[in-house]
Amino acid sequence: MNKEQSNEVPGMVDLATIVSLCKRRGFIYQNSEIYGGLGSVWDYGPLGVELKNNLKRLWWKSMVYERNDVEGLDAAILMNHDVWKTSGHVTGFKDLLVDCKSCKKRFRHDLIKSDVCPECKGELTEPKAFNLMFRTFVGSVESDANEIFLRPETAQGIFVNFKNILTSSRRKLPFGVAQIGKAFRNEITTGNFTFRSREFEQMELEYFTYPEESDKWFEYWVNERFNWYTTYGIKNANIRLRKHDKEELAHYAKSCYDVEFLFPMGWSELEGIAHRTDFDLKQHSAVSGKSLSYFDEERKQDIMPHVIEPSGGVDRAFLAFVLDAYREEKVRGEKRVVLGLNKFLAPVKVAVLPLLKKKPEIVAMAKAIYKDLSGNYKVVYDDTASIGKLYRRQDEIGTLYCVTVDVESLEDKKVTVRDRDTMEQKRIPVSDLKSYIDKLVR
Ligand code: GAP
Repeated sequence: MNKEQSNEVPGMVDLATIVSLCKRRGFIYQNSEIYGGLGSVWDYGPLGVELKNNLKRLWWKSMVYERNDVEGLDAAILMNHDVWKTSGHVTGFKDLLVDCKSCKKRFRHDLIKSDVCPECKGELTEPKAFNLMFRTFVGSVESDANEIFLRPETAQGIFVNFKNILTSSRRKLPFGVAQIGKAFRNEITTGNFTFRSREFEQMELEYFTYPEESDKWFEYWVNERFNWYTTYGIKNANIRLRKHDKEELAHYAKSCYDVEFLFPMGWSELEGIAHRTDFDLKQHSAVSGKSLSYFDEERKQDIMPHVIEPSGGVDRAFLAFVLDAYREEKVRGEKRVVLGLNKFLAPVKVAVLPLLKKKPEIVAMAKAIYKDLSGNYKVVYDDTASIGKLYRRQDEIGTLYCVTVDVESLEDKKVTVRDRDTMEQKRIPVSDLKSYIDKLVR
């Protein structure tokens, strides 16, 4: 744990606690750990993949299924070299870096507050530009002609497919294209757990509008995306909007808002909503020689749509939802840790817990319930500790309901269903259990 990972925000759980919980309970592991790891690359464990999938599904539901103006896309990570030249990333996607002449460490120039090394106070070199894209080669010859990049954003896959999507879906303006996928950046300033990773996932929407309506849609999407996070549980005190100053705007943006979350290291970007104008479609049309304009049947006119782009990070949203949901309570003098995640995000919906594992009839009944409830969401079975410990385990990972099977269950064919948040317990007939739980968790 380095200095950056210390808790600076009063009231917010510190990052070290979350890093430890994530590893111990199987949410997130360090990548290639047995070989000493690979800096700022992370693997999602059994619970992590559940939460991450739930998060992506929720985004897709809001952005695609609940609307009738958005199509989906899954473009490849590898793209023609010229895409990145045209988009401005080959020349523009750079950080200015300085090296320490004594300890040889490298820093981002804009994050250094003095003109000496922040670690050892040594002399620094002049700033040098460093492109954040990972380079690789297609085919067997490692030459400049075969150089390609791992995409640093998923957006370009949408722009270069604009005409394909338009033709095959017969969409009219305004409409959007949504995509979730991996992106890669050779980040220099790392730390803060998954906040700034070298391999991460983005959830991006490119929303194509008439130029004259673009400002209205920009405002619409800023509000829409802010509300998405609060709808699924982020507390109002931990989230805010911040407008970019002119000098921090990306090379393609006319205007941008960040949805910021109060991370332990302070307010930081969770998602950006950018007004990309017609920058990308125009650039790709000019360089490829293939027009990416939209023919408006009513106006009998070619239009270059303007683009509003809400671009969020899956990994950052994951971290924000976990940080926001973590709470510690005192119950009968004992500490109770609860991950109070929204029901759609919780990785495990139900845990089935037999109270007396020595009694074969109880085990058989619990296993039958476990099997019956499984199928549409994650259900776990656990008989490896006392009931108090089993409840604590499930609370700590945010399991919504615990179903306990006891001696009485054999007689009355009822089980106890315990609610994670209220800890209220109800006896429910086994015959009604599946529909009862289904209604609560879906
Ligand atoms: N297409 C626009 C774009 O890529 P960005 O602000 O550079 O814009 C969008 O990235 C989102 O992607 C960020 O708000 C953040 O959530 C996520 N993101 C960017 N770099 C990241 C990194 N190194 N690690 C984790 N998430 C990252």
